Amino acid sequence: MDHSNYVIDQMISAKSIAARVEALAEEISQRFADTDKLIVVGLLRGSFVFISDLVRELELPVEVDFLEASSYGNSTESSREVRILKDLRGEIEGRDVLVVEDIVDTGHTLHHVLALLRAREPKRLEVCALLDKPSRREVDDVKATWTGFEIPDEFVVGYGIDYAQRNRNLPYIGKVRFTS
Ligand code: IMP
Ligand code: MG
Repeated sequence: MDHSNYVIDQMISAKSIAARVEALAEEISQRFADTDKLIVVGLLRGSFVFISDLVRELELPVEVDFLEASSYGNSTESSREVRILKDLRGEIEGRDVLVVEDIVDTGHTLHHVLALLRAREPKRLEVCALLDKPSRREVDDVKATWTGFEIPDEFVVGYGIDYAQRNRNLPYIGKVRFTS
């Protein structure tokens, strides 16, 4: 199939995203109000725009770190493998940690990342995902503490999210519609 021709239809406007990010940040700030420091862990690369907007709305002492995971193998297999390409720079033992993800799709990535981080014994470990596609879930016990928007099973781009590394710079979230 030739996927070279496609158009992008706007799904969530930049304005809606900004309003939602503000609301999420308020809830997160309340939850961690007593923290001495919140370590915000962005999952590369898709969360880089979301995390940059989110941390600027948090009224907490914050440290930012990044982790890059890549899934490979047959994505239809339930035991999909997830590899850590870039680990955190800092320690998280005994710390308050917030994982920031772009999309929870099948749930395999988040499942593996959370198991890895949990083994390091953080004090608290919560997840904020911008998007969730619940209808695509293959791992049952995976759910973000906070979700920006639940979306249907569409392939989306923009606001950090790519299609073949393109379109991350779109200020809104759009769905990809193939024309050939
Ligand atoms: P999961 O392991 O299936 O939950 O995969 C989640 C990851 O797949 C996300 O962090 C994205 O990088 C990628 N992904 C899932 N859905 C989309 C999409 O619609 N557009 C772009 N990337 C996606
Ligand atoms: Mg990702």
